[in-house]
Order: sequence, then C-alpha cells, then structure tokens
Amino acid sequence: MAPRKIIIDTDPGQDDAVAILLALGSPEDVEVLGITAVAGNVPLDLTAKNACIICELAGKTDIPVFAGCDRPLGRDLVTAEHVHGKTGLDGPSLPAPVMAVQEQHAVDFLIDTVRAHDAGTVTVCPLGPLTNIATAFQHAPDIVEKVQQIVLMGGAYFEVGNITPAAEFNIYVDPEAADIVFKSGVDIVVMPLDVTHKALVTQPRNDAFRALGTPVGIAVAEMTDFFERFDKEKYGSAGAPLHDPCVTAYLIRPDLFTGRHINVEIETSSDLTMGMTVADWWRVTDRSANAMFIGDIDADGFFDLLTERLARL
Ligand code: RIB
Ligand code: CA
Repeated sequence: MAPRKIIIDTDPGQDDAVAILLALGSPEDVEVLGITAVAGNVPLDLTAKNACIICELAGKTDIPVFAGCDRPLGRDLVTAEHVHGKTGLDGPSLPAPVMAVQEQHAVDFLIDTVRAHDAGTVTVCPLGPLTNIATAFQHAPDIVEKVQQIVLMGGAYFEVGNITPAAEFNIYVDPEAADIVFKSGVDIVVMPLDVTHKALVTQPRNDAFRALGTPVGIAVAEMTDFFERFDKEKYGSAGAPLHDPCVTAYLIRPDLFTGRHINVEIETSSDLTMGMTVADWWRVTDRSANAMFIGDIDADGFFDLLTERLARL
C-alpha cells in the first residue's frame, strides 16, 4: 500500500521532535509532504528553527519547513519553556540548522497542498496549538472537505489538565482555533493526555534509545532525559510522556491504540475551564460524535516500533 501523505504541524518541543523522527524513519508508511511550524511550546522563530534542526538530525534536509502563525487567533501566546527549556529542544547539544525555512507562509502551504492533491489523500497531523489549521480553514473553507483526516495530539478527559486544572496545553493555547477544528466536520482522531500519559519513557526505554549509539538515538535519549523533569515532578511519572509520537505511531500502527468515537467540544467562554476538551466519553448527551478519542495504548508495542524506526536514521 502506498505511504500516507501527511503534513506535520508542530511546535518542537522534544516530543514533537521524536514524533517527526518516527515519521521520517517510516517512509514506507508515511510521506511527509512538509512540516509547518506554529507558536506554542516556544515562540515561532524557535519552533521553525527546531523543525529544521530535527530534519538535519534525521538527514532529511529535503523536507520543506514552513513558518506559520506566531500567536493564537484571539489571545496572547502562552509558551512552555518550563517544560521544554529556553530553546524548546533542551537536552542534546544540536548544531544550528543550515537548511532554511521556506519563504511561503505555512497556512498557504497547507491550503495549496490540500488543493493540489485529490480529495481524501492528505492527512494533517497537528502536534501543537491548532492556530495554523484553523486559519487555513478560515481562509480556504473549500479545503475542509478535502482533508483525509486530522490526527492530533491535544486535550484530556480522565487526565484533566496539564497547564491548568482543566485544560491540556495545545488546546489551552488556542481554544478558539481548536473549536473551529473540532466543529469542522473533518474526520478527527485525538491523542489526549489520557493515552499519552501511558507512553512513558522509563529508564529501560531510554537506555534502548541510547544503546542505538547513533546521533539520533543519543539525541532522543538526551531530549527525553531533559523533558521528563516536568512530569516526574508534577505527576511522579516513571518517565517522559511521549505525547506527540502517539500521532505518528497511530498512522503506522493504529492497532496499538483503542478509543471511542464520541462528541468532543471545546470550552471557549469560561476563564475557569478555558480550553477544556469536554469529551462525552459516557455518551450522556445527544451531541453527535465528532472525534475518535483515544484512551489506551500498547506501550511496549509503541516503544518497540519507535526504537526500531529511530534505528533506521
Ligand atoms: O500537552 C502536551 C502537548 O503540548 C505536546 O504536544 C507538547 O509538545 C506541547 O505542545
Ligand atoms: Ca507539541
């Protein structure tokens, strides 16, 4: 079967980096048409630069990287240096990129690429705030029905919030954008904290990355060593949660995941619960289902896949 054509929309971020590396190490499963950067974990200039750094680390400098929106649709940008460090990729010491960010705006790339391909053949994989995606839908409503699927990392239900008591970071940063995407009618698969908190880089798993002995394996070990501090301190986790790689792993091995097709709506009014993903997991309302909300993962199978694919780079 031909590899799925995907656009990765991202705010690197160590976990974004691992998600991108997993995709770039799986050419038989996914064809990365481009990487679009958005402001999120760190400001846009850094997320775009970090996307280039990751492509160079993977030896895939032919992948075009585009810079997108530098702030949410209708509110100030909130960043997460407390989790990802000042650069957004703290941990390994990686060289400044030689490859340049494309001139074209990421939103225009998203629009032009979906328009240029047959309907139902391009999957969009948001790993950060949904600002670029929502902006593309606002500027070009015609592309909404052409998008094959959106597989995104964001939200939470049983795990509640990681940036506020109620909200997960990607949705919290731009709840208005998330509301547009979740109401768009596109086939959406959601990787919430409920599942990503089960994909933890325990010490043996980190050791397996490092044992690859390659620049990629060592860098991933160093990224996750750094990235785990926040979650270990806050949740007492056994290691860094690999949030974003759940998205690319789903494209390659959807059988590693289970979830429910339910209604998910976004809080955009209350300051108390702003950005909360109100997931009708128990189907107590008559609101129509609009998202496959993933709740569980075969974590060993996930890490076996990830380590095997990283070894190829
Ligand atoms: O809440 C986790 C999400 O926020 C991940 O995508 C992480 O990279 C940050 O963007
Ligand atoms: Ca991210």
